[in-house]
This record gives sequence, C-alpha cells and structure tokens, in this order.
Amino acid sequence: MSLLYPPLPLPGPVTATNKSVSSPFCIHLCLPRRIRGFSLVLAVLAIGAFLYTWFFLSSSAHRHQDDIVIYLQDLLHPGGSSTPRFHEWHEREKRLPQHNPDLPFPQGREGRYIHFSNHVWGVGWGNAMQELLFNAHLAYLAKRTYVFDDYTWDKTSSYFSSFNDKRIPARVPLTALLSGPVAGDPFPPSTNGVPAVIPEFFNEVCPNRTIIDRIEVDGALPDASAATLLQAWLDKLEQTEDRCVEIKEYSGQIFNYLVFGDSSRLLDIWPSISKSPIITHFSWSPLILAALVANAQVIHPALSSISPSSFNPSASTAPLSGLLALHIRRGDYIDHCKTLTNWYAHFMGFNEFPGLPDRFIPPPPLRVGNASEEDQAQYRVHCFPEIEDIVRRVREVRASLSSTTQLRRVYVLTNGKPQMLEELKEALQEDAKKGGMPVWEHIGTSRDLVLTSEQKHNSQAMDMAVAQRAEVFIGNGFSSLTSNVVMLRAAQGLEWNTTRFW
Ligand SMILES: *[C@@H]1O[C@H](CO)[C@@H](O)[C@H](O)[C@H]1NC(C)=O
Ligand SMILES: *[C@@H]1O[C@H](CO)[C@@H](O)[C@H](O)[C@H]1NC(C)=O
Ligand SMILES: *[C@@H]1O[C@H](CO)[C@@H](O)[C@H](O)[C@H]1NC(C)=O
Repeated sequence: MSLLYPPLPLPGPVTATNKSVSSPFCIHLCLPRRIRGFSLVLAVLAIGAFLYTWFFLSSSAHRHQDDIVIYLQDLLHPGGSSTPRFHEWHEREKRLPQHNPDLPFPQGREGRYIHFSNHVWGVGWGNAMQELLFNAHLAYLAKRTYVFDDYTWDKTSSYFSSFNDKRIPARVPLTALLSGPVAGDPFPPSTNGVPAVIPEFFNEVCPNRTIIDRIEVDGALPDASAATLLQAWLDKLEQTEDRCVEIKEYSGQIFNYLVFGDSSRLLDIWPSISKSPIITHFSWSPLILAALVANAQVIHPALSSISPSSFNPSASTAPLSGLLALHIRRGDYIDHCKTLTNWYAHFMGFNEFPGLPDRFIPPPPLRVGNASEEDQAQYRVHCFPEIEDIVRRVREVRASLSSTTQLRRVYVLTNGKPQMLEELKEALQEDAKKGGMPVWEHIGTSRDLVLTSEQKHNSQAMDMAVAQRAEVFIGNGFSSLTSNVVMLRAAQGLEWNTTRFW
C-alpha cells in the first residue's frame, strides 16, 4: 500500500540512553545546560536530516512505506533504561493531515464523528486491542470518523503510572503500536472511509456533542451476540442526527471481555469484521516494524525486508517460512490459570473458530470456585505448560505437519525467566535429536531481542506481529494476545492446521 500523502517525519530516538542522539524536539526540556551547546550543533544536523528525509520520502519515486522502516532503522539506537514518554509520537499524531478543521466534508468541522470515551483502560494490550478494532469497525459501518485514543493504562494526568512497583508510561499513542485505518492512516480508496482523528481534534470540531450512555442500548440486550450489538448500535447511530457523538465515559464497554471470552457470542460478527478495512488493512506501527527489522536474525531473516503492507491480512504475504512461534506465558499467569480453572473457563472466543483443530472441552463445572486437583491439572497443561509439556506438544505438531511443512526455527513469545528459557532451548534440541528430526537452526525468544525502551514497552505488539506471520503458531487458548494473533491469521486465511494451542 503506498501512501496517499507525504508521510510525516518519524520520531527520533528520544528514549535511547545515549543522549547525544536526542531528538530535536526536546533539546531544552531534556538535556542539562552544560551539553546544550553541543546539542544545538546536533539539532542543526538532525533538522537537516529531517528535512532531507522528508524531501526524500515525499518525492514520488520513494513514496513507499518500506522507506519509513529503512529510515527508522538508522535512527533507532538499542538500549535505554528510562521510562519512555512517547512524546514525539503524540506530536506526530497532532500533525497528521486530517487534523485540519478547514477540510471539506466528510472531514473537518462539517464531518461526522464518534468518540468511544467508554473504551477499556488499565488492562493488557491484548484486551485493549481487540476492543478498539471492534469500535473502529462500528464507526466505519456507521459512516462516522473514528476518534482513536491512546492505549491507556492509567487516566492520571501524569505521564507515568506504575505496574508491579515499576514506573511505566500511563499512555501509549496508538500510532506507536498500530498503523492502518484504525490509527489514522488513509482507508483504501474504494471504501470511502474517513481517516481517524485524535481526541484533541474531536474536541476542537465537536465542542457540543450528543452523549450516549452505553446502557441505553445494551441494557435491553443482556448476553447479546457481537453481531446483535453491532446492529443495535448501527440503528441507534442512524437515528442520531448530531454529527458529533460520544459514548459516555465510564458507562462500560459495548464489546466487553464477556463477549470476547465467549465464542458463542463473538463469532457471528466475523463475516462482517473480517471484510472491514479496519482488519484487511490492519498493520503494525513503524516502531514495531523497525524492531522486527533490527532483530531479524533472532527471529527470521525474511523480516529484514518487510513493509507495513506485509502485515495487512488482505495482502496474503507468504508466512515466515519454517518458523514455529510459541506463546508461553509465565510469571503470575499461574494464578490467572487457577482463577480460570475455578471459573471452568473456555478458550477465548476467537480461539474457538470452528475450523481450528485443537479444541479444549472444560471438565464439568462441578466445583465452581473450588476446583479439584485433577481439574487444576487439566487446565495447567493448556494454560501454564511445563517444559516437558511444551516439548511434547512441539514434537506432535511438528510431526503432524511434516508432510507439508518443514519447521526449522523457533521463536518464543514469552515473559519467562532467562534460565527457564535456556532450559527450554536445550530440551527442544534434545528432543529433536532423540526423535530423529533435524535440530532447530535457531531458537530465539522475546528475551533475546535488542530493543529501544519505547520498543521494549510495546514488545507484546512485536510478539503478536511475529506470531501473525509465523508459518505455524502454538498459542495459549486462554490468552487475549493469542486470540488477536488467531484473529489476524484467520483474516489472512492461513490454513487452520497451522494455528494450534497447548
Ligand atoms: C455549543 O452549545 C452552546 C450552548 O448551547 C452554544 O452557545 C454554542 O454556540 C454551541 N457551539 C457550537 C459550535 O455549536
Ligand atoms: C474445597 O474442596 C475441598 C476438597 O477438595 C474441601 O476440603 C474444602 O472444604 C472446599 N472448600 C470450600 C471453600 O468449599
Ligand atoms: C492442512 O490443511 C490443508 C488444508 O485443509 C491441507 O491441504 C493439508 O494437507 C493439511 N496438512 C496436514 C499436514 O494435514
């Protein structure tokens, strides 16, 4: 997909430890006085580089998003331990060309907008991502411009919040995670979609607006399916004349975790959303793509020549040949698995597409809240597999696909400890040898990547991007991260037998 208008310069490496490569945006804010003189020289150089790059990217011969990745690759410097603020990404969002009130209808101050102020926050990226794609699809069908918010951990006015006593960014600009129509990129021309805008612009062009409490519509529809909810909201919005609509903050989500957790409520929306430009032209941000390029040798060499369109499900790009991606949740997930057992939970909705070969049938929910040891054990194999469970499953899947697929490399999406991962690597190689299969050419993990601090904070998105494109994926059926991967793989139409679960 080529750009319809000249791309904006991309943010520099503000969060790298090496301050001498600081972005020209924040010289006076970010640097101590004694190195400002030096910085000024650098700033002049950097601005020159910016202008050159802008000119380079704007010239029609080079108007391909691929160039952005190459450009970023040189700008990003690995390392950095400070908590990222993503300041430049915010600034860049403000400069997107749709943020001009004078643009003619359907944009600008005559445009029709919808802001989902009720969106989820304070949850993991996987949960936030699934909801925002659905909201953006609803906006698209309702012919209203989608207002995209930050991925919000905390609604505090500070830049920072905390998690497990660690300082983390309170918000991440969506454009640092995603690209495509959901994050303000142009829609494909045939769709007549209007580029999404940020809340600041919505506030400017919609000082007055109709606020709809979610419960006005959903209250009458307890346990409704996703398609039913979608239609009810389309009807409601059709009856709403005001060109400015906001769904009331704190009124709960339209598509909430109960919908995403239940295939019998979720999957009837698939025929609609899978054809939406929100999904067909979904991609990852230049920040994520740059991380993949920089770490291609750890993951898969073919990643060194990617473009945003390589991740559009509609582009049907060939998978990363021979790559097996494994999603292994560790740490406090063990407690989550116990909770899931006590609920007798099913797999997440998208992890129960009828075509998927691996099914999980929960044991009869005889002891809700106090599951037996046997029931706990039954869940653990699928939710928190131990090394021997992982090795056995990898062997089964590799062998079952060997007539069509030669798996040669492994990439592990994980928050596991380095020591456990070293043991896993050894066990996988050992098992391949014992079973008479070729040893793995390379086994990489999330822990082996070299990332800037901005990328590190968004590494879940990076992991999803790898799993989306892997030739074969073994995921965790209870995880929303896995379910987003499964959704993207399904949207691309990959063979069902290449998407598996523990
Ligand atoms: C918004 O509403 C207020 C109060 O009703 C009104 O005075 C103002 O002119 C409206 N602004 C716009 C831009 O419609
Ligand atoms: C949970 O089950 C065990 C038997 O496995 C029983 O001893 C215990 O009292 C039960 N606890 C509750 C709160 O029901
Ligand atoms: C996987 O599914 C595809 C399509 O149904 C089929 O052609 C292929 O043979 C299957 N592979 C294996 C190893 O079963």
